[in-house]
Amino acid sequence: MCGIVGYLGTQNAYDILIKGLHRLEYRGYDSAGVALVDNNGQLNVYKTKGKVSNLEDYCKDKNINGTVGIAHTRWATHGEPSDKNAHPHYSQSKNIALIHNGIIENYLSLKTFLSSKGYVFKSDTDTEVLVQLIEYMMNEHDLPLYEAVYQALTQVTGAYAIGVIEKNNPNELITARIASPLIIGVGKDEFFLGSDASPIVEYTKDVIYPEDRQVIRIVRGKEIEIRSLDNKSLIKPEVKQIQLSLEDIEKGGFEHFMLKEIFEQPKSLSLCMNGRLQREQKEIILSGIQNYGERFAKARRILISACGTSWHAGLIGKYLFETLCRIPVDVEVASEFRYRNPVIYPDDVLIAISQSGETADTLAAMELAKKQGAFIYGICNVVGSSVARLTDSGTYTHAGPEIGVASTKAFTTQVCILAMTALAVAKQMETISTEDYKRIVTELCNIEEKIETILSKTEEVKEISKIFTYARNFLYLGRGFNYPVAMEGALKLKEISYIHAEGYPAAEMKHGPIALIDEEMPIVVVAPRYQMYNKILSNVVEVKSRKGKILAIVTEGDTDIKRLADYVIEIPQTEECLSPLLTVIPLQLLSYYIAIAKGRDVDQQRNLAKSVTVE
Ligand code: AGP
Ligand code: GLU
Repeated sequence: MCGIVGYLGTQNAYDILIKGLHRLEYRGYDSAGVALVDNNGQLNVYKTKGKVSNLEDYCKDKNINGTVGIAHTRWATHGEPSDKNAHPHYSQSKNIALIHNGIIENYLSLKTFLSSKGYVFKSDTDTEVLVQLIEYMMNEHDLPLYEAVYQALTQVTGAYAIGVIEKNNPNELITARIASPLIIGVGKDEFFLGSDASPIVEYTKDVIYPEDRQVIRIVRGKEIEIRSLDNKSLIKPEVKQIQLSLEDIEKGGFEHFMLKEIFEQPKSLSLCMNGRLQREQKEIILSGIQNYGERFAKARRILISACGTSWHAGLIGKYLFETLCRIPVDVEVASEFRYRNPVIYPDDVLIAISQSGETADTLAAMELAKKQGAFIYGICNVVGSSVARLTDSGTYTHAGPEIGVASTKAFTTQVCILAMTALAVAKQMETISTEDYKRIVTELCNIEEKIETILSKTEEVKEISKIFTYARNFLYLGRGFNYPVAMEGALKLKEISYIHAEGYPAAEMKHGPIALIDEEMPIVVVAPRYQMYNKILSNVVEVKSRKGKILAIVTEGDTDIKRLADYVIEIPQTEECLSPLLTVIPLQLLSYYIAIAKGRDVDQQRNLAKSVTVE
């Protein structure tokens, strides 16, 4: 999920590796490290928490010789950011060093097995299990490095892009990938590894894009060897040319981080559900709930406290827990909760939601509830953050670094975690039938594909957005699970286009906002076909009779609202309680393209910070 760099050639590897890490800094990270095999065959690993510049300071008086090496910027998923958890990781004998982007899903069972074989682990990461497994394969089956890596990967499930080097072997560099990004640069008598082309492009434009489940052996002076993990067949390397500029590459070919992160949502949801949603068995297994489900089941009520977009996710959490678990839920912005001397009971559960894990008001709300004995559960995207450290338990969203100030993939992964948590608790409390549970979980298994379907309509949304750039005010309407989505859509528009927008429960429009409606005012109605459909249809009629300009988000095949609306974006059907994961996507795209049409700086809006660490 973060950054890997590798080099094997005739130049000094250290300089190329460090520069490559700097090129990857834009991806967001919490620690960095480098490993080199020097000309005497010595394998040296240097790694530090914090910035790449910390690593450079640390390496100032170290042996940084060698023409083969690997380097890594870490975005922690297992084990908080620290020197010992940073990559590269040594094997037990210190004969091998490995870097890894992604998640080793079955790391716990592998760790148990390796511990039983006498392997001792120095870090809390899933990654260290892989380097130890490779060593185990070398020792137990007397395999050379490449074969050992190959055999180890046949035992691993999860997502990875890896680099591996070996002591006394300065002529070999092994790499492989599943689901995480990896590019190989092919120079003159030299090879490069990168999570994207940014560490490579200044040295060569000739690259190989390894496919998933391929293990690659790079040996000095020889042809690259690529084998499939499925059948060990040799695959002929196909060299292509990089077309993108460095700036393009940092955004994955997208114009802005926000658009890149909107399009990353199928993948970030897959990573969020990795190891938690058992797709074969249609089961949800959340360690936080396995260990503390009783606290939820016996809770007098659930309090949810957060800010901004995370608060909108919390509002959806209310509908999820009350609908599925029949537990009363109070949701409140943290800045109000922390100061109004709220009544908090020891048998309350407080769920704190925060992408950054550093939002001051959310932290203060957690501290207040903790002091009064409530059980604190965190939903956060940054491992080892202040929110993560303050909780009694929690679940990481694993959305990967969110660089765009406007939160998109963090929101959908937060809603996904809330849905999985509510389903797991409901199953434990038996407040949901097995049939309903399985049906909803099955839908969750298909959600990425349905988001891809919506993303394929981006051009449609882009064309509609051009029509609304004149507007100075928007009204977003929704009901039930999609009332908070209306709020989120309005916030997205406000914070990146600077157009005023309000999200409202659709029926509430009659109690005032309806006075605003005229033929100039765009009304965005989130109106998928669920239990409140007929009610929201009436609201659309009310808006239409006042000549409002209606953009409706509707279920594929809708005809009734389609006949009334001026513009329509159709989305796939899913379970109502999961529908926010779909209805929010067109609203994210709409706000993005309206802001672009108005020439806004979408990734760095005026007056806004990515993490509000002050009151
Ligand atoms: C959302 O697009 C904004 N960036 C903002 O409202 C954000 O959600 C809020 O500041 C909370 O941040 P957190 O999730 O990191 O706590
Ligand atoms: N899961 C690994 C860890 O937590 C790798 C994270 C990453 O992709 O940076 O160390």
